[in-house]
Amino acid sequence: MVRYTDIRASNTLINDSTAPRIAVFVGGTAGIGQLTIKALVATGASVRIYLIGRKSSNDRAHVFMKELQSTNPNAEVIWIEGEVSLLTDAKRVCEVIKSREKHVDLLFLTTGYAPFGPREETAEGIEITLSLGYFSRMMFVLQLLPLLRQAEAARVVSVLGGGLMERPTSIDLDDLALEKPGRFGPIKSQMLSATMNTATLDKLAADSPGVTFIHSYPGWVDTGNVRRGFEPNSWKAWVAWLFLEPLIYLFSFSDKESGQRHLFLSTSAYYGGRGVPWMGKAGVNTSGKPMNGLFLANYRNDCTLNAGVLSVLREKSTEMIWKHTQEVLQPYL
Ligand SMILES: NC(=O)c1ccc[n+]([C@@H]2O[C@H](COP(=O)([O-])OP(=O)(O)OC[C@H]3O[C@@H](n4cnc5c(N)ncnc54)[C@H](OP(=O)(O)O)[C@@H]3O)[C@@H](O)[C@H]2O)c1
Repeated sequence: MVRYTDIRASNTLINDSTAPRIAVFVGGTAGIGQLTIKALVATGASVRIYLIGRKSSNDRAHVFMKELQSTNPNAEVIWIEGEVSLLTDAKRVCEVIKSREKHVDLLFLTTGYAPFGPREETAEGIEITLSLGYFSRMMFVLQLLPLLRQAEAARVVSVLGGGLMERPTSIDLDDLALEKPGRFGPIKSQMLSATMNTATLDKLAADSPGVTFIHSYPGWVDTGNVRRGFEPNSWKAWVAWLFLEPLIYLFSFSDKESGQRHLFLSTSAYYGGRGVPWMGKAGVNTSGKPMNGLFLANYRNDCTLNAGVLSVLREKSTEMIWKHTQEVLQPYL
């Protein structure tokens, strides 16, 4: 187990030589992404952060950026507006980053929510929560992989359900878009996104040994994320507000602790051996080794092997998921 005191101690060692110099946050306009940016900027290190968000977050994002600037004048935060649920726009944002940077040290992905309402598609015909939780995230990974490979110790962190929500035996490989009648729902969408995240990141990690990949489950963090999935003012939204949200409030990590835990995920050599030096026993990747690869990190920052799930996934599902992913992304790549 990684103790919180050790996490905080590790984060105090973040400086100009250990911080990710160029970081891209997709989902950093709110919640865990935003908390992690705050924690990173508060280290005082010289970092350049690309903050990606949709038009409706523009004003909020600029208030946040001013706050960051006063916390740490060495931090440069660049806003790129993009409707990231759309693959066309995700690609356009990546093109902007590629035109400005030669390498990227950190790609931090947190967009998404569990849908408690009816199935809803983006203008590109992809169910929106699958796009935010998986397809758009993979578009960012694939587009920025050449720049990540150019970095000395690059890292991709996808925050969703690593080690906890993968269910390769429950997903229907013939319906990875959740289109069949009765197949759609909040748990199915989250489980499928998490399973596909792990499968694809596991595959990409094998092809990119210089990049550290992490799929994490954040535990409960009171970000208002649960509210996003309900139709406003529906009876379900009221039930969630009355019962679920107080429960989340009671059992959540504090904002500060969540930010520190995700900063550790983004910087510590505990994962893969590169980053802020880690003196204790190192975490292990999905092959059980303390070296680069894919790490499934639970809410306490421990690495879970999830060996049973991983072997079923690799044997039966990864190739089908990869094929489907390529079919969905190809028109936009
Ligand atoms: N918080 C938890 O307790 C918890 C637990 C388990 C798993 N998770 C998962 O972990 C991830 C991060 O959670 P979080 O609490 O940090 O999430 P969050 O605060 O609710 O949202 C994160 C980001 O998603 C973006 N987003 C949401 N809907 C969008 C849409 N339709 N189009 C474009 N962007 C959209 C938000 O942008 P705007 O600022 O523009 O709205 C925000 O930047 C999510 O996938 C969540 O489902 C969270």
